[in-house]
Amino acid sequence: MNANLRAQFPSLNPASNPQPHGVRLAFLDSAASALKPQAVIDAHSRVLSGPYANIHRGLYHNSATTTAAYEAARAQVAFFLGLPVGGENSLVFTRNTTEAINLVAHSFAKPRLKPGGAIVLTELEHHANIVPWQMVAAATGAVIRVIPLAADRHSLDLSNAEALLRGATVLALTHMSNVLGVRPPLTHLVPLAKRLGVAVLLDGSQAAVHGPINLTELAKLGVDFWCMTGHKLYGPTGVGLLWGRPELLATMPPYQGGGDMIEQVKLPTGTTFAAPPARFEAGTPAIAEAIALGAAAGWVQQHGWAAIQAHEQAMAVQLSAALADLGFIEVYSPPHTGIAAFNVRGAHPADVATLLDQQGVAVRSGHHCAMPLMSALGLPQGCLRASIGIYTTAADLTQLAQALIKAQRLLVP
Ligand code: ALA
Repeated sequence: MNANLRAQFPSLNPASNPQPHGVRLAFLDSAASALKPQAVIDAHSRVLSGPYANIHRGLYHNSATTTAAYEAARAQVAFFLGLPVGGENSLVFTRNTTEAINLVAHSFAKPRLKPGGAIVLTELEHHANIVPWQMVAAATGAVIRVIPLAADRHSLDLSNAEALLRGATVLALTHMSNVLGVRPPLTHLVPLAKRLGVAVLLDGSQAAVHGPINLTELAKLGVDFWCMTGHKLYGPTGVGLLWGRPELLATMPPYQGGGDMIEQVKLPTGTTFAAPPARFEAGTPAIAEAIALGAAAGWVQQHGWAAIQAHEQAMAVQLSAALADLGFIEVYSPPHTGIAAFNVRGAHPADVATLLDQQGVAVRSGHHCAMPLMSALGLPQGCLRASIGIYTTAADLTQLAQALIKAQRLLVP
């Protein structure tokens, strides 16, 4: 990885950011939210300080300019995600992954679900891919079926998958677990779901950050909806994406009502709606954030997936080795995923995380928005999670290992 890369992240610059507790920062919580490169900060700032105006509304120059930049960002992200020209029309800007999943749950699944119907999830899911489905299940009388964790405690037990999918309306699953870094076997599960007439949604929040996504190929496999958030892909908060198969989006009612999503508004009734994606973008969207997300996609592409993956793989190998070498760590993720879930034997994860923080090491601790997975792993107190990003270095991982040694000495008699 380019030696200057870390210099592009102001949050890592001790000259502009006081170091926490006066120690070098080892930021190992990118799975929660990634730091932002200057190119993204500049793109965001250029919108707010440049010829800014609301979009899709004004005929004057600044509105047309900002509208063009917003739609260009949509096209840029569509290209980044492997869609052909025109594919951007099936890409909806949302607030985040959570909103994208809620949109599909309410606009696609809810009208199709009946009492006794089913939604299939897996035990690996983030709460964002659980709770919206529970809400529509409660509203329609449908049930939630769960593909459980296998005996190895990191892959899925597919032995009953066909029975679980039979008669279901939707299979909603992660493209890459935010806790274990594992990827469900899509080439097995997606065609199986399609054969049984089950629509498939993938939560791409983590997968989008660590390798190329080709929505054209995923659509061929049978994926119907795919979503991600901007802030994990080195972009801003407040913006995410939903891709949907165009013929399905066209059948779906709006998720929210308001400006920009209408064709004609009539009183007392008779309002008609714009075609997708505008139908699903009610109100003034996150204009500057969407444009900055386009810049983030461009920035990642400029670095190139081959270089990013080579670097991240080296860091993932080193992270797994560092944890294994310590001898007092219980690791829950399989090796080399780049997202390591673990505990210090005999210590509470919150205590360890606090001691790591005092040594400049930022990791997440707790349930990781995945309480059912914590239960399946038998971890009522949760665990620690160290996750790598494009800017992770060997020094960060050495700092983690040294901080863990100190924490273990202090906490475990
Ligand atoms: N979904 C984020 C995480 O995994 C917040 O930590």
